Amino acid sequence: MTVTFIMDGKEITVEDGKTILDAARENGIDIPTICWHEATTANGLCRMCVVEVEGWRTLQPSCIVPAGAGMKVQTRSEKVVRARKTILEMLASTMDLSDAPEVLTMMDEYGASHERFPDAKRRESEIKDDNPMYIRDYSKCLLCWRCVQVCADDAQYTYAINFEGRGFETQIGTFFDKPIPETTCVLCGQCVGVCPTGALKPKRQFLLETGMSPQEISVLNTGRKRRKS
Ligand code: SF4
Ligand code: FES
Repeated sequence: MTVTFIMDGKEITVEDGKTILDAARENGIDIPTICWHEATTANGLCRMCVVEVEGWRTLQPSCIVPAGAGMKVQTRSEKVVRARKTILEMLASTMDLSDAPEVLTMMDEYGASHERFPDAKRRESEIKDDNPMYIRDYSKCLLCWRCVQVCADDAQYTYAINFEGRGFETQIGTFFDKPIPETTCVLCGQCVGVCPTGALKPKRQFLLETGMSPQEISVLNTGRKRRKS
């Protein structure tokens, strides 16, 4: 079964069940995404992928909405561009995007300002350095949920991390805020691999960025091993 519909004035036919985002990518139409990742289940969290569907009251997240027969979709209408720009500006005003190159590129592309909401409260968090493999800096977390998903049913089935808090206070954390070594985490590193913002970062990379040399880091690691034996 296939579905035929119109996207940006072009007739498109895709397999039934494909999302609008799938259809766009199969046809060389670019729709930006932040929370979507090929290895995780789409949840429609960031709304960066919104599109305008004729006759529908609100913009639709293309990563979770299936393409429907006869739909008329616009991926770059004025409304869509304004929504994406505002999403980027809200992110920039509440979190540290300095380690999120893909998002920074989108900001340039959409002409989004870092100063649009100067009075916005920023989401600040202490760096959590509690295990030998990676650090967690939730000041850089945009709550895409990718790490939670690969830690759970999308890959590892470990369930070491999840959302905690509500509303503005929401952040990713361990149960009862336990240090990573006291959780079910097996240090597989999959969460680090899917994080788009540097909120999760390999410990070695973090130490190099603080100015330590590879030699100093290797002494640190050797020291750790010695202390254990
Ligand atoms: S830590 Fe990274 S992967 Fe996890 S929710 Fe935050 S930004 Fe996404
Ligand atoms: S990419 Fe679709 S909602 Fe985030």
